[in-house]
Amino acid sequence: MDQLAQRSRVRRSMQLYARALELIPGGTQLISRRPARFACGVSPVYAARAKGARFWDVDGHEYIDWTSGIGSILLGYCDPVVDEAVREQMALGTIYSVNHELELELAEELCRTFPCAEMVRYARCGGEACAMAVRIARGVTGRDRVLVCGYHGWHDWYLAANLEGEENLAAHLFSGIEPIGVPRALRGTALPFAYGDAGALEALLHSYRGEIAAVIMEPLRSRLPPPDYLPEVAAMVRDAGALLIFDEVSTGLRYGLRGAQGLVEVVPDMAVLAKSLSNGYAMAAVVGKRACMEPAARMFISSTYWSETLGLRAALTTMREARRRNVPAQLAEVGHELMQRLNRAATAADCPVRCEGVPFHPHLLFDVPAEQQRLLSTLFIQEMAKRGCHGYTSFYINGAQQQPELQQTETAAREVFHLLAGALRQGSLQQLLECELREEPFRRLVT
Ligand SMILES: Cc1ncc(COP(=O)(O)O)c(C=O)c1O
Repeated sequence: MDQLAQRSRVRRSMQLYARALELIPGGTQLISRRPARFACGVSPVYAARAKGARFWDVDGHEYIDWTSGIGSILLGYCDPVVDEAVREQMALGTIYSVNHELELELAEELCRTFPCAEMVRYARCGGEACAMAVRIARGVTGRDRVLVCGYHGWHDWYLAANLEGEENLAAHLFSGIEPIGVPRALRGTALPFAYGDAGALEALLHSYRGEIAAVIMEPLRSRLPPPDYLPEVAAMVRDAGALLIFDEVSTGLRYGLRGAQGLVEVVPDMAVLAKSLSNGYAMAAVVGKRACMEPAARMFISSTYWSETLGLRAALTTMREARRRNVPAQLAEVGHELMQRLNRAATAADCPVRCEGVPFHPHLLFDVPAEQQRLLSTLFIQEMAKRGCHGYTSFYINGAQQQPELQQTETAAREVFHLLAGALRQGSLQQLLECELREEPFRRLVT
C-alpha cells in the first residue's frame, strides 16, 4: 500500500486509506465505497467536497459523479432548496424530548405519493428499514420464513439466507458472503428466489405452505420486469396468505413520482424507502396498508434518532422538489441521452461495448469472453477517472447532471473506448492496467 500510495495520482486518498485500515475494520463503512471496487490507486477514495453533479477529492481532482453518492443523491449535491430547509430546521433544533409535527407532514406526503402507503414508520437507513418491514410482516402473520430477492441490507434476518450455502445470495448481491456472526438458529428463515421466474417462486410458496410471512423483493433495478411477472407475484403471495414487500430503497422517486410501484402498477402490502428519499440526509421509511401497519403499534420497534428532524425535513423537501421539478422525467431524459452518447462513442471506436438498461440507471455491457470482463471494467473505470469521470460501469442519474456532464463524459468515453478497442485488437489490454483488478462488483438484480 505504501509504495502504491507514493506513486499514485490520488496519493493523499491512498495515505488516508492506509490509515483507515489501521483504525476501521475493512477500511470503509459501505462495501461499495471500498477502493477495490473501483480502480484502486487511480480512482479517488476520499472526497473533500461536492456540489451539483460533481465532487472534488482530497488530491484536488474534480470529477463528475456518476454514482450519485451510491444512489443517495437524487437532486444533486448540496441542492440549494433542500439545504436551506435543513438550515432553517437546524436553527429550530434537531431533536427534542417530545415529538415534532414534521413526522406527520412527511407521513402525509408519503401517503399522497406511494400507492400502498396508508401508515408510515421511520428509520434512518435502508437495511434498518428492511429489518423493520420484515419484523412487522412476521408479527402480523405469526410466521417466520421470508422469501427474498435482491439486496436488503446487512442484518441477520437477510444474511441468514447464506447459512445454508454461501452462494445463496450470489445472484442477489455477490458471491461467497460468509454469514459470520449470524445465529445458526436462523437457518431456513430467509430463502432467496430468482427474479423473473414466477414458477420458482410458486414452488417455494407451495413447499412452505402456511409458513411464509413475507416475500420481500426489489421490484426492479436496471431493467423493466417482464410484463406479467409482478402482477403474478402479487397474486401468488396473496393466495399464500403472505405479505408482499417492495424494497424501493435504491429506486425511490427515480422511476416515477409514485415510486417503482406506480411504474409497474402493482400495489404491495408494504414498501421500504431510504436512499434517494432525502437527497443525502439520513432518512428511511416503511410505508404500507393500514391492515399491515396498524399491528406494529403493539410491536417493540423503537429508536431515539428516528424522530431527528433534519432527515424528516430533508425528505419532505426532496419529495416536494422532485414533484415540482418533475425529476423522474428529467432523469429519464438525461439517462437516455447518456446511453445514446456512449453507444455512439462505442460505435465510433469500434469497441465491443454497449450501454443499455432503463434510462434512470443504465449500465455498460462488454461483449468479450467472461475472463476479460473484470479487466475491461477495471480499465474503463481507471481511464474514465483520469478524465474526471467517477463511477462504476453502471450509472446513477441525478437531477444536477446536465449537458456539460453529458458532453464531457462522451468526450472521455470516445478516448477510452478507442484505447480499449486498440488494446483488444493487439492483445495488450494487460499493459494498460495501472492498478489491481477490481473486486467482483455487486451483482444485485442485473448489474
Ligand atoms: C435495494 C436496497 N435495499 C437495501 C439497501 C440498504 O440500504 P442502506 O445502505 O441504507 O442500509 C440498499 C443499499 O444499497 C439497497 O439498494
